[in-house]
Amino acid sequence: MQKIILTGDRPTGKLHLGHYVGSLQNRVKLQESGKYDEIYLMIADAQALTDNFNNPQKVRDNVIEVALFYLACGIDPKKTTIFVQSQVPALTELTFYYMNLVTLSRLLRNPTVKNEVKLRGFEESIPSGFLNYPVSQTADITAFLATTVPVGEDQLPMIEQAREIVHAFNRIYGDTLVEPEAVLPDIKVARRLPSIDGKAKMSKSLGNCIYLDDSDAEITRKVMAMYTDPNHIKLTDPGKIEGNVVFTYLDIFCQDTDFPKYLPSYHNLDELKKHYQEGGLGDVTIKKFLANILIQIITPIREKRIELINNIDYVYEVLENGTKKANQKANQTLAKVKTAMGIDYFDNPKFKEEIKEKFQNNTTN
Ligand code: TRP
Repeated sequence: MQKIILTGDRPTGKLHLGHYVGSLQNRVKLQESGKYDEIYLMIADAQALTDNFNNPQKVRDNVIEVALFYLACGIDPKKTTIFVQSQVPALTELTFYYMNLVTLSRLLRNPTVKNEVKLRGFEESIPSGFLNYPVSQTADITAFLATTVPVGEDQLPMIEQAREIVHAFNRIYGDTLVEPEAVLPDIKVARRLPSIDGKAKMSKSLGNCIYLDDSDAEITRKVMAMYTDPNHIKLTDPGKIEGNVVFTYLDIFCQDTDFPKYLPSYHNLDELKKHYQEGGLGDVTIKKFLANILIQIITPIREKRIELINNIDYVYEVLENGTKKANQKANQTLAKVKTAMGIDYFDNPKFKEEIKEKFQNNTTN
């Protein structure tokens, strides 16, 4: 069986370091692994509208932003098809048929939906489009016959839901759809990069995340504002590593080769941690070190993004061509689905034959 990847993001803002460690890096790795026959990367604007329907401009503006970050981080349109969800009508059509296979109570029980409903304050007035987005996500995945869906942990209930719908479809209409599997990013800690204030949620309005196009000065300013250990006041005080955002970031981003470059009096992170815990190592030293490491990661992304902005026709073409290709694939699947459901009246000569035969028999009676 072919190995096919589909994944995507809602275009609601610029991408940040959390996206980088949680998904972008992993997608580039999967792209370069050579293990996949087809890879689709979707800008999920239609899904973004399910909770931003009153702010379509935000979604529209961010379609190109997300595309820029994909390309700047190393997504290669020759290997990965980047496309825009709303421009693939087969996805909405599939969603409509899959809706028959899910109950309202099942959607209300979906832990991700439940959590998001709470976060958005929808309470008793949940837009039905929003509640239905796991079904639409199933359409996204199955339209490409995806076997593999790289996602963050929060999306696991979505994949579970997709598998249930695929099961139901295949049981009722015959074996047609492929059951997808989720893949989580490798490093456990990378799945949950904290914001600079140590809160779980990164958000634009709180200004607590580091964007992939932040300037060196912005990166430094944000790292200097990071939450560390509130009891580590004097230089000689012993410091805590747990819950210390600087060390959480160092755990994820620091490599041994960074020491000779930026902090040559230490050889590795264990040595640095030990000194911090014993006392005698100040926050400014570890913060400067981390800022250097992050600048080293973000600078090439920021520069590539500017290069792409100067060649925006190319980015537009990548999206347009990718969307064309995505339509071809999704239409093939939609045709199979409609045939399986027996609603392919004008695409399949069988229907005409059937009605002819039926009424020919009638008239001879
Ligand atoms: N729900 C994903 C997010 O919020 C985006 C998405 C839409 C997606 N459809 C998908 C992810 C299908 C994986 C597979 O980022």
